[in-house]
Amino acid sequence: MILRKIIKYLTKTKIPANVIVGKDSVVIGPVSIHTTSSITIGNDCLIEGIVTTHTPQAKIEIGNEVFIGNNSFLGCADTIIIEDKVLVSFDCVIQDNDSHSTISSERFTDTKDWKNGRQHNWDLTHKKPIHIKKLAWIGARAIILKGVTIGEGAIVAAGSVVTKDVAPYTIVGGNPAKFIKETT
Ligand SMILES: CC(C)(COP(=O)(O)OP(=O)(O)OC[C@H]1O[C@@H](n2cnc3c(N)ncnc32)[C@H](O)[C@@H]1OP(=O)(O)O)[C@@H](O)C(=O)NCCC(=O)NCCS
Repeated sequence: MILRKIIKYLTKTKIPANVIVGKDSVVIGPVSIHTTSSITIGNDCLIEGIVTTHTPQAKIEIGNEVFIGNNSFLGCADTIIIEDKVLVSFDCVIQDNDSHSTISSERFTDTKDWKNGRQHNWDLTHKKPIHIKKLAWIGARAIILKGVTIGEGAIVAAGSVVTKDVAPYTIVGGNPAKFIKETT
């Protein structure tokens, strides 16, 4: 019992002070937050994945009873909103930005800059908010790209790449993800 408590204490993730975590949520993370950006996590969540903000204005809002599975990655340079009771499986990528410019000359020093204390000019990167509405379920190894809204109760099939909005209570799958069928 005591040994279990010691192990739990030693393996507990250090959550940055400016991350707001609600009651009874378990955050394994890691969570990293850019200076003035904001991350709020609601009540009763289990966050096993990686949560990161990259820019001072970035905002991640996670509702109540949200599950983010092991090794899933939330990368935010703009806004990611995940509503109540959303399930995100393992190894998913939810990224509201492209990480790099689509113009080669603007990527010229990207590796050097990142090596040099993770410096990066995020102004050169396309970014658009992501919104995952309540009760949606994102299957394993799915990728949700910038600008996508996943409707209430929708399902993204395992391994999908979602590039467009998903209607509420529908199942989408494939790369790029397409409508499969309705759900309830
Ligand atoms: C989306 C999902 C829930 C649908 O399950 P289902 O309702 O039983 O659907 P079916 O197996 O009958 O498949 C329906 C159609 O979708 C297609 N499909 C199913 N999964 C797919 C996927 N991952 N990618 C692309 N197409 C898929 C099937 O080929 C089938 O196509 P068809 O009608 O042309 O034959 C399931 O396929 C899935 O991806 N589950 C995710 C499981 C997961 O990630 N678990 C991790 C723990 S949370």
